[in-house]
Amino acid sequence: MERLQKVIANMGYCSRRKAEELILKGEVYVNGEVVNELGTKVSLNDKIVVEGVTLNKKTKYEYYLLNKPRGVICSAKDDKGRKVVTDLIDTKERIYPVGRLDYDTTGLLILTNDGDLANLLMHPSNEVEKTYLAVIEGIMTTEEIYKLKDGVVIDGVKVVPKRVKVKKRDEVKNKEKVEITIIEGRNHIVKKMFEAVGHPVAKLTRERLAFLDVKGLQSGDYRYLSMNEVKRLKAMKK
Ligand code: URA
Repeated sequence: MERLQKVIANMGYCSRRKAEELILKGEVYVNGEVVNELGTKVSLNDKIVVEGVTLNKKTKYEYYLLNKPRGVICSAKDDKGRKVVTDLIDTKERIYPVGRLDYDTTGLLILTNDGDLANLLMHPSNEVEKTYLAVIEGIMTTEEIYKLKDGVVIDGVKVVPKRVKVKKRDEVKNKEKVEITIIEGRNHIVKKMFEAVGHPVAKLTRERLAFLDVKGLQSGDYRYLSMNEVKRLKAMKK
């Protein structure tokens, strides 16, 4: 027996977090009965219906690495019919993005229907590093760099970056390119961190996640992760 949200995620319907939301909204039925409490345990023999879709036990896992372009929503679907990241990938499986990149953020995004891997990569306890290149407004002073490196409080929680490196300083345009590595995955986290030291982000791209990067992929292009890469990501579980 496994927790219902874990089974839904493992069957590739959506992430575990999304499954919890759907359960609480009353969108999940087990053997014909609505289940709207978390913590319910089910077995693989139970018939699970989510948002009217009966889950199929034989889901094939798929893993993609996308170089996300600007102007695409990081979601599996959009209520208003706008373009979403899954529209860029040619598959019949119900894949979804692992974590969020903002509408205007570009770069590395993993999409999969493997709920366990998605969870592993998003959970801060596994310390999966995400490296971003930010173009920020203004030039950071030494004090501001130290403040950022020491950690800034975002929505009540302190975030200490793993690394901060100023890559390029443009005194004429009054802008700076900074590489920052974090393990957190909260929404808008990098923008909020730079804002906390007085430098709004003008442009943001995710360059790396763990040992993966987007080298060789044009904006909007994607590739399949190799079995070896998937294995290495799974080995990051602590
Ligand atoms: N942090 C942000 O502020 N935006 C992103 O898209 C990703 C991380």
